[in-house]
Amino acid sequence: MNNQKYLIAANWKQNGDAKSLIRLINNFIRLYKKAKPTCDILILPPAIYLETILNRLKHHKVSRKKISLGAQNISPYQNGAYTGELSVDMTKDYNCNYTLVGHSERRHVFNEDEKIISKKVRLSIESGMQTILCVGETMAEYNSKSTKKVILRQLKSALVKSANLIKSDHNKIIIAYEPVWAIGTGKTASLDDIRDVHGYIHNSLSKILGTKTNSIKILYGGSVNNLNAASILVLSNVNGALVGGASLNSKKFIDICSSI
Ligand code: PGA
Repeated sequence: MNNQKYLIAANWKQNGDAKSLIRLINNFIRLYKKAKPTCDILILPPAIYLETILNRLKHHKVSRKKISLGAQNISPYQNGAYTGELSVDMTKDYNCNYTLVGHSERRHVFNEDEKIISKKVRLSIESGMQTILCVGETMAEYNSKSTKKVILRQLKSALVKSANLIKSDHNKIIIAYEPVWAIGTGKTASLDDIRDVHGYIHNSLSKILGTKTNSIKILYGGSVNNLNAASILVLSNVNGALVGGASLNSKKFIDICSSI
């Protein structure tokens, strides 16, 4: 696509505690310093541990350009009386420069609708974050061959209100294609399907934004591991991976990062 770097993101979800996550990041940094992978790496810890992980990166003198931090979720509101929420600007206090929006667990477990996702995308981009928008079909939608229809709807509803912002800086949005049925199941989409859907996402982005979108990264997510990463990352229009389960194992995650 271009000479941009691959982005490999670790979505730790709601796992671990201070002790185990410190161990995980320390081990990962040790392996990272040996392997020196060329990709950009992003860690998305549970928000309450952002400061802990940031301090570990600082302690080990890892440049935030090489290993960035991001928020797994942000509030659709800037600030105010929204009990339990985390504003995008708060995450900046911990050097976050990425956000994850529209993850299938937010959509399906917490019933986030497309209006909320669109608000989050806009707020996140406005505040200068690189915003990873997740899209993907359920098993039923896959079986009824509605994948492309679903993805087009999710892209349109999330991006239309931010189109002008994205047009002026393509770096501000990243799409993660994550088939819902592939997340945490050990099943990945076929290489043909990944190639096809990623191409379709590019075409759809060009139509929605009315401009060439070759420089917008598209990540694949859904049961990416150290054994399948290389074959997925080599596909055209695949610019990185969003990794859940396998990112909780420092050896597996460094192997994924080193596979391109
Ligand atoms: P998984 O999760 O790698 O465990 O399938 C991916 C994700 O949810 O981002």
